[in-house]
Amino acid sequence: MRIPFGTISVTARSKELINEILTTNRLSSGKYVREFEKRFAELVGAREAVAVSTGTDADALALAVLYDYGAKRNDEIIIPALSFVATGNAVLQAGFIPVFADIDVNTLNIDPAKIEERITEKTKAIMPVHLMGKPADMDAIFGIAHKYNLYVIGDAAEAHGAVYKGKNVAVCGDMAAYSLYVAHIISTVEGGIVTTDDAGFAEIMRSLRSHGRACKCESCVLNRTSGYCNKRFGNGENHDIRFIFERIGFSAKMNELEAAIGIGNLDIYDDILKKRRDNLYYLLDKFQAFDPHIVTIRKESYEDIGPHALPIIIRENPRFDRPKLANFMEERGIDTRTLFSSIPTQCAGFDFLGYKKGDFPNAEYIGNYGLHVGVHQDLSRPECDYILNAIRDFLNTYV
Ligand SMILES: Cc1ncc(COP(=O)(O)O)c(C=O)c1O
Repeated sequence: MRIPFGTISVTARSKELINEILTTNRLSSGKYVREFEKRFAELVGAREAVAVSTGTDADALALAVLYDYGAKRNDEIIIPALSFVATGNAVLQAGFIPVFADIDVNTLNIDPAKIEERITEKTKAIMPVHLMGKPADMDAIFGIAHKYNLYVIGDAAEAHGAVYKGKNVAVCGDMAAYSLYVAHIISTVEGGIVTTDDAGFAEIMRSLRSHGRACKCESCVLNRTSGYCNKRFGNGENHDIRFIFERIGFSAKMNELEAAIGIGNLDIYDDILKKRRDNLYYLLDKFQAFDPHIVTIRKESYEDIGPHALPIIIRENPRFDRPKLANFMEERGIDTRTLFSSIPTQCAGFDFLGYKKGDFPNAEYIGNYGLHVGVHQDLSRPECDYILNAIRDFLNTYV
């Protein structure tokens, strides 16, 4: 038996579109990227969606929008200490400084009680991460953001389908940034997308993903045609408007082949989401039997978790540690991943920020004792039971 962490669904329609794209030779960002954006926005109830090359770019571009609203390089963005390292990388790539707040071990998300003490004059935004698809405590975060006039940009990389108090996390806050990497709920292989209700933010992101270009014509922004454009030199100056750059940009466009995979995923989204959510909620329920030795997250009545993966957290127990559990599961063919690390104190690249071990005890705890396994759409109920049996056998052996 082999239970892979993730899967990717490539539908017959995606294959047809890919053939068409290859035949017509229109591969770079164009009409299918636009179709994907429109359908993604509709699906989550956002006014706009801007597709980019990766989830990391989605985070970085959403943050870089803030330069148009008065932010300066080296201003600060508050993020949770525990996340996939991409959240921290994206803040730096956008030219800001990540300032970390510890997490709550029960939710795996930023602890709102730790945010206010991190706010300085340079703070511009809070970027909560809905880790493992579990919505962050948005009411508390909005309360702080309003008090200090901060933007809220969600890292929803793992939170497709997550709902917080009746609202899709896509529209909780100023923008939400998704990863569309393989193994994520909607995938374009590599890819990311930012949702927002603010058309101005979306326009800036369309410029940012294309080097900071000034031209806002549909044909240029959406790469509709490579034909004649009478506006290029029609600006009264000796400049080609396609080569005027009004902000520091990125090169972060999605291509048509990726959009074709994404469109196929949107066609079967309800089915993907249902299968994954059934798997996750089944496993969450059964995991109660492993408490107090091994625990996971809880679904609250006011939320729906985006079924990205199943977190597994070892409660401190001298009789076994994470490598022992991970090896036991891997030997039985179950793919495991660690549950990330404390970015500031367990990821060497962030040492220059000067944090020290012990600064983020909860994030570090999960960094030492957390794992996650897949709940994907190709995972059957007997395979879920196989995972549960492996953990049961493990506990019977070591507790
Ligand atoms: C929380 C979080 N943020 C950002 C990213 C970055 O996404 P990508 O790998 O598409 O760049 C990921 C990736 O899985 C993630 O889990």
